Amino acid sequence: MTERYAVFGNPIGHSRSPAIHTAFAAATGQDLVYEAIAAPLDGFADALADFAARGGRGANVTLPFKEEAAALCMRLSERARLAGAVNTLLREGEGWLGDNTDGAGLAADLAWHGLAVGGKRVLIHGAGGAVRGILGPLLALGPAELVIANRTHAKAEALARAFSPLGPVRAVALAGFAEPPFDLLINASSAGLAGELPALPAGVLAPGAGAYDLLYGEKSAPFLAWARAMGAAQAVDGWGMLLEQAAEAFALWRGVRPDTAALRV
Ligand code: ATR
Repeated sequence: MTERYAVFGNPIGHSRSPAIHTAFAAATGQDLVYEAIAAPLDGFADALADFAARGGRGANVTLPFKEEAAALCMRLSERARLAGAVNTLLREGEGWLGDNTDGAGLAADLAWHGLAVGGKRVLIHGAGGAVRGILGPLLALGPAELVIANRTHAKAEALARAFSPLGPVRAVALAGFAEPPFDLLINASSAGLAGELPALPAGVLAPGAGAYDLLYGEKSAPFLAWARAMGAAQAVDGWGMLLEQAAEAFALWRGVRPDTAALRV
């Protein structure tokens, strides 16, 4: 029987998730349909209930509904609880199990690109919802240190405080930034959407350092160019993270893990 899946967001028109999951289903021989649903800003709960009533088995959730999705779940995975946000829903009886595969997706893509975190000094630029989702999985990789720098310093401090029981993480202010060079810079700020570059000084990257943008495609181009100019040996956009978080969700729903290689071109 064909089973129903969907991604919820607002806006959702440009979502790549339907194409990705449809390709995964074809490659793994799974019988499913996957649609994009634009829920009204004040109507996510109703749209999700309607989807469940139509036989929806699972869903992805994107901006701006990830936190609301977490609140609606009957049960949360540990990583979704830590993230305070849900990007993957799985129907369980009369309710939803909420998971968050974003951080696992990032970890898998960093590994795919050979960008090591274990034992490395890692700088994260940004301190929004996306960072809350990736801190747990990054700390699980055993960095020497994870440092968060954000335009609004208090948000970086709050995140560092919340996650410090899980590993070495601290916040630094962008004003007067004077840190030893980092091995990996992860850009998790949405500054690039406004064409703005990180306010980080020359020398922030160690020789051979990597740079990774959670954004992908055109939106990441200015950051990646800036990172190369700052000396990054490798500068990678977040397309692979999108594929890997999707593969992780697909595996949760279907019990089979699709190979992302074919979609990486
Ligand atoms: P997301 O879910 O993508 O993380 P968010 O929670 O709105 O979205 O967080 C956006 C992040 O991008 C924040 O760290 C934000 O900085 P502030 O905390 O100071 O708002 C950062 N950001 C957005 N626009 C920025 C800009 N023009 N310059 C620097 N940082 C910016």
